[in-house]
Amino acid sequence: MNEHILMCPPDYFGVEYSINPWMENQIGKVDRKLAQRQWRQFHHPLSQHAKVELIFPSKGTPDMVFTANCGMVWGSNFIPSRFRHPQRQSEEPHFTKWFRDKGFDILDLPENISFEGAGDILPAYDSSLLWAGGSFRTNPEIHVLLARELNCRVISLHLINPHFYHLDTCFCPLKEGVVLYYPGAFDQLSCHLIEQNTNKTITVSDEDAYNLACNAVLIDNILFMNSASESLQEKLKAEGYSVRIVGVSEFMKAGGANKCLTFSWH
Ligand code: ARG
Repeated sequence: MNEHILMCPPDYFGVEYSINPWMENQIGKVDRKLAQRQWRQFHHPLSQHAKVELIFPSKGTPDMVFTANCGMVWGSNFIPSRFRHPQRQSEEPHFTKWFRDKGFDILDLPENISFEGAGDILPAYDSSLLWAGGSFRTNPEIHVLLARELNCRVISLHLINPHFYHLDTCFCPLKEGVVLYYPGAFDQLSCHLIEQNTNKTITVSDEDAYNLACNAVLIDNILFMNSASESLQEKLKAEGYSVRIVGVSEFMKAGGANKCLTFSWH
């Protein structure tokens, strides 16, 4: 178990404002009991395969459950997010404190440039490069800055569909240079960059994309996902993965699924 995962219990989770298209018309509509149950049913199997740690939310941070957006770990450094929307900015000090208390050095990015952590920055499975999504939440200037500061290869991708406002909603790096993704979320140049820099791609249908199938958590050879069509499951099985469907409908109302509920590092 050398995979660490940070999760945040949904004690204060709800849709209280709208900052992405999924949240429109969902204000006040989360079934809190069901959300708690879905979160536990996801947390339990994960904790059997990874070292799952918890951060406790405080009142007034209904989206803090989406720990993918806490920031980014790079070696012994933690790079805190700078949320685009004021509604989430009060999460920043909580996450920074948690990582500082764990002994990470805090590497601050310049102020006033938005950066939403592992929602938009996804390392290749072998860590050879970083896939970086931008336009809606993470400013593409950050991609350039990360490449320079971290001295690593960054492939900058441009998101064009507001339903897929974070890279992890439509893109999932798998093993051996394989990537699962939804072409409809990217401009043409980005699709080209993805195809050029992978050994193989598995593209998902509109239906799978809108069920946030790409928002999957990969541990060992298991892919935890909210939903996947028969044909997608077949393709993933053929690649050697076992698919575990863990439904998170209540969190989809806020525009996030399984991967958004986790933040992982080695
Ligand atoms: N309501 C949250 C937001 O709009 C959802 C975040 C989902 N997280 C993610 N990594 N895609 O910020």
